[in-house]
Amino acid sequence: MDKNANLTIGENTFALNILEGTESEKALDISILRKQSKFITFDDGYGNTGSCESRVTFIDGDQGILRYRGFDITELATNSNFLETSYLVIYGELPTASEIDLFQERISKYAKLPNEVISAINAQPKNSHPMGVLAAGLHALGGAYPDFCTNNRKADLERFDDSAALIISTMRTIAATRHRFLLNEEVPDFDSEERYCKNFLSMMFAKNSVSEEMPDSVVNALDLIFLLHADHEQNCSTSTCRMIASGGANPFASLAGGVSALWGPLHGGANMAVIGMLNQIHDAGDDGSRFIESAKLGKTRLMGFGHRVYRNYDPRAKILKAACDNALEALGVSSPILEIARRLEEEALKDPYFVERKLYPNVDFYSGIILQALGFPTDMFTVLFAIGRTPGWLAHWKEIAETGKKIHRPRQIYQGSTLRPYLSVEKR
Ligand code: CMC
Repeated sequence: MDKNANLTIGENTFALNILEGTESEKALDISILRKQSKFITFDDGYGNTGSCESRVTFIDGDQGILRYRGFDITELATNSNFLETSYLVIYGELPTASEIDLFQERISKYAKLPNEVISAINAQPKNSHPMGVLAAGLHALGGAYPDFCTNNRKADLERFDDSAALIISTMRTIAATRHRFLLNEEVPDFDSEERYCKNFLSMMFAKNSVSEEMPDSVVNALDLIFLLHADHEQNCSTSTCRMIASGGANPFASLAGGVSALWGPLHGGANMAVIGMLNQIHDAGDDGSRFIESAKLGKTRLMGFGHRVYRNYDPRAKILKAACDNALEALGVSSPILEIARRLEEEALKDPYFVERKLYPNVDFYSGIILQALGFPTDMFTVLFAIGRTPGWLAHWKEIAETGKKIHRPRQIYQGSTLRPYLSVEKR
């Protein structure tokens, strides 16, 4: 294929390089277009814009493919676990036995929060959303480890292995600390011999100590949810993280920004919104058909459906749909809203409105049902998404710190007033 494309504007023709990715994605390189032509491109919402070259994750939304570092998500979900996958996402290769041991050791070493961070978490107003507390906790954590976050790329990269382990480890401790504080309970001691998710579940729910019995099926269900969320290329929160990192900010500040970006209902907050929607349908005695009709009229959205990139079944939703049955059976929980979810999916997938727009269930459609069955309060669901997405955010922070040369700074098409004179208040 030609390595150039020509763009003709009026009487002038400009040659643009064509970039090709390893999975054959093609892009017009417009990096010198403005300099050459005084034109910029316009792509509201960035749906057609490649903001960077990245080696972390590949998605083919038309075919419903998701791969971390070249490994298919279904293969990882079947054979790997959250920590091993985190290592893969961050460092680019599956770890050797000694590499994973060292990674786990670091994660255990940093599981406890410094007292001043605990105070900062618990000082948040009583009605603060757990996502706000998580972002505040990350900032406080950076303050407690000033050597890890100097806003100097070279220095921050030198401490990256430690800061990455610290952040992965304490995202769950921040979440559990706040949860227990609101219940007026102590967080049980951490057990370094136990798995990441088992420790987290114990910190959240155990009555006595971390050694309390926690069935493997429960631990595995949470581990799977985290693994499936580990990265998703240039989504809203990851792009935010990269944007902040491009200004030279440290990983703690960059990830706190990612947490804030994830919060909204069109992004990570959808997992909470799905449960709200399913409960609303249940309480209204609707079999789902009335809700679907109002979504088709644009009065509401079918939460957990649709995706900017997938125009096919989200492969993560497929895995979670199957996991949902197993998890609920293992927990001995029956969920009336699971029935509603299944019926909604079935109806939507044969309705021309959803078919024509290629709207399929996304990762949030079934994850909330499992999280609810595990006992997590609904307003913590997005925090769990954030814990799962942490390795992805860290991988992208590292990619920017290692390869990014420029601060990210889009342009705009200004549509406001042109120059006008200032009027004193009497003349307005
Ligand atoms: N229910 C009903 N209609 C929808 C939905 C939905 N969930 N999603 C999109 N549409 C319609 C939309 O109204 C539009 O119709 P029309 O062409 O007649 O105007 C068409 O489909 C295209 O929608 P869009 O808003 O241009 O699509 P987008 O790519 O900008 O938005 C989305 C993607 C995920 C924000 C959107 O599908 C949505 O709001 N879904 C519900 C929220 C949700 O589940 N979010 C989680 C996303 S997955 C987790 C993550 O990565 O964060």
